[in-house]
Amino acid sequence: MGRYCGVSFHESRRAAAIEPFYVMEILARARQLESEGRSIVHMEIGEPDFDTPQPIVEAGVKALREGRHHYTPALGLPELRSRVADHYLERYGEWISAERVVITPGSSGALQLLVALLVDPGDEVLMADPGYPCNRHFVRLFEGKTLHIPVGADSGFQLTADLVAQYWNANSRVVMISSPSNPTGTVIERGELERIAAFVEQHGGTLIVDEIYQGLIYGDDTVTAVNLPGPPFVVNSFSKYYGMTGWRLGWMVVAEEAVGGVDRLAQNLFLAPSTPAQYAALAAFDAATEEILQQRRERFRRRRDMLYLALLELGFIIERVPEGAFYLYADCSGLTDDSSRFAMNLLEYAGVAITPGKDFAIQEPHRWVRFAYTTSTEQLRRGIERIRAYLTEQSGAAA
Ligand SMILES: Cc1ncc(COP(=O)(O)O)c(C=O)c1O
Repeated sequence: MGRYCGVSFHESRRAAAIEPFYVMEILARARQLESEGRSIVHMEIGEPDFDTPQPIVEAGVKALREGRHHYTPALGLPELRSRVADHYLERYGEWISAERVVITPGSSGALQLLVALLVDPGDEVLMADPGYPCNRHFVRLFEGKTLHIPVGADSGFQLTADLVAQYWNANSRVVMISSPSNPTGTVIERGELERIAAFVEQHGGTLIVDEIYQGLIYGDDTVTAVNLPGPPFVVNSFSKYYGMTGWRLGWMVVAEEAVGGVDRLAQNLFLAPSTPAQYAALAAFDAATEEILQQRRERFRRRRDMLYLALLELGFIIERVPEGAFYLYADCSGLTDDSSRFAMNLLEYAGVAITPGKDFAIQEPHRWVRFAYTTSTEQLRRGIERIRAYLTEQSGAAA
């Protein structure tokens, strides 16, 4: 039973099984402390601190002024689908037909459409642990089952073809990969991804690759899964690299044979993605926007380098430098045996908000915390100093 305004109602088992995103609890408490006058350094938020680039905002405003207020086709604005297809050729040298591109309400919308399309009750979806928590909830909502495969620094916190082969069984239908990953920021190697794609195809399964942090890779970023064997279903978004989180716009690239099914589902679930957001996103690939985004990427890279070294010095263990996204996933077992309590105490006593491992990991969540470098270098430095002071005080108290 759930309760709503004092009235009891039946909450479905499906809904009751969905856990909260704990980072939201941290964020809510941080906001409360700020409203009481406390200064908080935010390293919990998985959202760029930069605003949407001006050329995108202007294109959105223009669309609104021109009366672009009506539904688009469920699969998205044809011009934007073509523009996304062109982007794959220009940036990655991969030709795909615009028919394969589907515009969605965020990549969250894409992931839900895909799970709805691919998963029958009881079907099993293989994914890395730690991973993005919403994925297991999407699978649960559609009555599928998740199989969480423990991964560590040795495989860059990514699945390998050997692991997929080891865990694959008669109920397995789908393998989900995020690269760069949230929470670890690590990227899967091209060869490994190819081997996984080949294995999944040979076994009649489907591969989903979430590339939403793809623009935020700090080394060679010229790789995408769109034309690997299968082909895999590739999810992407305007949220992170393009700085459009609140516009709620993403896309995916699907096999031509899947477009009809996705269209039927999208018509029923969402009708269409936001029209002004789609017109705004047409400017996302312009040279002027790209210049702004590349500068931001460089700033993120510098923040990563600084924070990585500072965390090691404080006693966190990070065995592998993450190649992308804006996260550092750190082993804190040398400093605490309970990462949730540690994160809460850091917030309460040091004014630093970070995310505990229980949001991402099923295995050993108490060992891990995630730092997001989605705030200025100055703020990151302030956060580091506060953590240092907190740890020094703790060790003094223990002595
Ligand atoms: C790996 C991953 N996939 C998907 C999403 C959903 O993002 P959006 O719906 O804003 O595109 C997120 C958000 O943090 C994410 O980290």
